[in-house]
Order: sequence, then C-alpha cells, then structure tokens
Amino acid sequence: MKSRKILVIGSSNTDMTVRADKLPSPGETVLGGAFTMGHGGKGANQAVAAKRLGGDVTFVCKVGKDLFGESSVRSYEQEGIDTSHILYSSQPSGVALINVDASAENSISVASGANLDFTPEDVKGLESVIREAGILLLQLEIPVETVLEAARIASESGVYVILNPAPACRLPEEIYRYISLLIPNETESGQMAGIQVSDRQSAEKAAEVLMGNGVGNVIITMGSKGSMVCSKDGSEFIPSRKVPAIDTTAAGDTYCGALSVALSEGKSLRDAACFATVASSIAVTRRGAQESVPTRAETDAVIAASL
Ligand code: RIB
Repeated sequence: MKSRKILVIGSSNTDMTVRADKLPSPGETVLGGAFTMGHGGKGANQAVAAKRLGGDVTFVCKVGKDLFGESSVRSYEQEGIDTSHILYSSQPSGVALINVDASAENSISVASGANLDFTPEDVKGLESVIREAGILLLQLEIPVETVLEAARIASESGVYVILNPAPACRLPEEIYRYISLLIPNETESGQMAGIQVSDRQSAEKAAEVLMGNGVGNVIITMGSKGSMVCSKDGSEFIPSRKVPAIDTTAAGDTYCGALSVALSEGKSLRDAACFATVASSIAVTRRGAQESVPTRAETDAVIAASL
C-alpha cells in the first residue's frame, strides 16, 4: 500500500428514521413508531466508521447549500475527518427515509439531491487527492460514471480501490478491472454474478464469477451468517459474532470502513475481515447510522475479551 491515507468518495444524507413493530407494506399505514433524525449516507457512514476505527480519512461528497448539508459537514469535521475537498451543489442535500422494524430489518428510500449532481468532471478536479491516497473507498449512491472515473484514476496510480456496490445497479464492464476489492452483500453479489446467493457454496461461486470479470478480491457479506472472503489464494468463510441486533442500518458501512482501516494498517484480507466483523457486530446492537458506529477502543475491547 502506497500510503495509510483512506479516501472515501460518496454520498452524504440526512437520515429520518421511524422505528415501528413492522415495515409498512405497499398502501399500508403503520402507527405507533418513534422518530429520530441523524447523519447518514453510505459514503459518509463509511468515512465516519474508518475515522472512528483509527484511519487517516479524507471524505469527499457533494451537499446542497442548506442547513442539512452544513450540519453534516460540521459533524464530519468534528469527527476529525479531512473535509477540505467537499463540494457544494445548487441541488438540495440528500435525505433518506428509513423504516426499521422490531427484528432490526430496514427499508430505505433516498431523495439523492446533490449526491446525483456529483459528476465525473468533479472527480477530474480531485485527481491529485486520489493519487495521494493508499485506499479509495467507493459506493453507488453517487452516479456510476463518477464512481468509474474515480476508480480509473486511482487504479492507474496504484491506489487500492474498494467498491461496496450498494445500492445495486448495472455496472459498466470496464470498472471491474480497476477494483482491488469488491464488497457486495448477498443480494448485490447475486445480481452482479447472475446467481442466487444464499449460502457459502453459492457465495463462493458468485465470487468466482466476479473475479473472472477482473476484480482482484471479493468479500460477500451475508448478514448474521458471516462473510465469504475470496482471493486468488482461495476462499474462507468468516462466521458472524452472535449479538442481539436491534438496528442493521449502516452495519455494512461499518464493515467497509473497518476493513479499510485494517488494510491500511497492513493486516491481511482475512484479518481485516475479522476486525470488520467485530466492528459491524457492535453497530447492529445500537440504533441509527453514524450513531451506531463503534470506536477503535470499543472494538479492540471486544476483540480482547474474545481471546
Ligand atoms: O447504508 C445505510 C445508509 O443508506 C443510510 O444512512 C441512508 O442514508 C442510506 O443511504
């Protein structure tokens, strides 16, 4: 790895969450919920996770010139994240409407706003920042052409590119060869590989297809089951840590942020996946997106207690 710097390029949202016994079905109104508002967005959640877990983090997103955008940027600064390259748009800042049910599952609708105004041209202006990074961490809540441009520049200069392909969308063929590590969940890996992923065998098969497309390594996260870590050297299943989950929002984001930190510290892919498994297992025991992300001390304490 060229440097320990982790650059996250992605989305920033304000999350408006209602917790109720069940998720509403189409046309249904569910009463009796509790409302909270907090900072979210897959990009921002991953940047916050990487920072709290010990990374040297720069975050670039695009927000509106409005109260939500200002408040988000202020909170990323308070986390100690380098926000000096954040961009501003005439579109409103992103907002996510989240429902969480009693079994910790969620459903999310996003009004992307400024996130979708993040263009490949914007990324060209970030070329020197990208080239200086050791790891570039990307997701798919900004336009895919923008993600492609960032991945291309990074890969050309030997930056380790991690893509969390969430939410799933059709990816241009070209992008696969720029990706050092792809971290999809079961649904995303299934859609990308054209295979139904439900267990270790099918996850391994999907990872083989994705590596056949040119991706360096693949980790398929499988929620409470665990994760399948696949590289050219073989594959290994890492079981999850059993915890009483109350909210899975940002669990995947915590996993990706944690994994980036561990890789930036020189850990192997397997050890990084074990570290990320512990961090995300703590996140699901807490409510909210960024509110749920643990610190390095909390994560290390859980690891030490399990030895
Ligand atoms: O991954 C969780 C995130 O997805 C939420 O914070 C919400 O903003 C959506 O983008």
